[in-house]
Amino acid sequence: KKSVGFIGWRGMVGSVLLDRMQKNNDFKKIKPVFFTTSQVGHKTPSILGCSQSFLEDAYNIEHLKELDIILSCQGTKYTLIIYKKLRKIGWKGYWIDASSALRLKNNSIIVLDPINMNSINCALQKNIKTFVGGNCTVSLMLMALGGLFQKNIVDWVTVSTYQAVSGGGAKYMLETLKQMGYIYNKISLNNTLLNKGVLEIEKIARDAVQDRFFPKKYFTVPLAGSLIPWIDIPMKNGQSKEEWKGAVETNKILDSKNYIPIDGTCVRVDSLRCHSQSFVIKLKNNISIKDIELWIDSHNPWVKLIKNTPEDTKKNLTPAAVTGTLNIPIGRVRKLNLGKNYITAFSVGDQLLWGAAEPLRRILNILIS
Ligand code: HSE
Repeated sequence: KKSVGFIGWRGMVGSVLLDRMQKNNDFKKIKPVFFTTSQVGHKTPSILGCSQSFLEDAYNIEHLKELDIILSCQGTKYTLIIYKKLRKIGWKGYWIDASSALRLKNNSIIVLDPINMNSINCALQKNIKTFVGGNCTVSLMLMALGGLFQKNIVDWVTVSTYQAVSGGGAKYMLETLKQMGYIYNKISLNNTLLNKGVLEIEKIARDAVQDRFFPKKYFTVPLAGSLIPWIDIPMKNGQSKEEWKGAVETNKILDSKNYIPIDGTCVRVDSLRCHSQSFVIKLKNNISIKDIELWIDSHNPWVKLIKNTPEDTKKNLTPAAVTGTLNIPIGRVRKLNLGKNYITAFSVGDQLLWGAAEPLRRILNILIS
């Protein structure tokens, strides 16, 4: 059995990963070793078949270098320090990473095997040892539109995103819930729901959001009941980094011979863990909606075409319907009035599952098979 070191397994992505691995009996196939950056000697998580009792030091290079595979969900900083040190002393193991630190390196592959299994196979033949999960928005877009990219008929894509707070990390998710609670408490304290008109209630909510105790330490502004059309740091050209990643990572994953332009505005909304995306796609040819639907729907086992009706859309194409599942519904598919080659579509996906943990779990399984 291969020894696999887990770092950052207690965070959101790491916890979802461990849960998926347990459900799929993945731990039976490996020898897991759990590391910590802050709690050396504390107890390991209770995982069937894990013989180790206490957490190991995640900065102990001597120990790390003995491992066949390292899987880190610890974040960019950790990767930049430890990966470099290990490679420098000649460590030849596989490094699997959730962070973006190594994504665009020449000797790394962004993993999303339902989309780029060929590239993964080529990489393994070339002895590439670094496999990195993609940006969540990119992975979720590719899982939804894989059928169109596979047919090589996409000329360009523009996208508006509706991204969940989990993408920012646990503290953002908690702050969103606190914001929601704060507003509701202010209203309910006054028993207002029963006695007042809706605009009076709205005024209490507005005052709550504006008062100085409103919880916004991390977002710096209110998100609940609002949105923030900026994610990550600014680039020099006016894009946010999240927007910049869209084209760069997609083209790397697809290993495109001809660069496919992708651009749009990324927006944070108060969804908890599902990213949604609205696409405008220019196709190279005039393809019938029937073919487009068929190609999208048959691409992989998780994507599911949702009929373009109000009932089907409301029932199946929302974060509430998708959260906590591996489903990738895509609907609102239709030709736009802009011209015969222009279509639109809307998709939803769980940011922690296909957006983060699942591609990592699957590459681990590929590497140990
Ligand atoms: N950067 C993404 C977000 C998360 O903030 O939603 C993960 O790739």
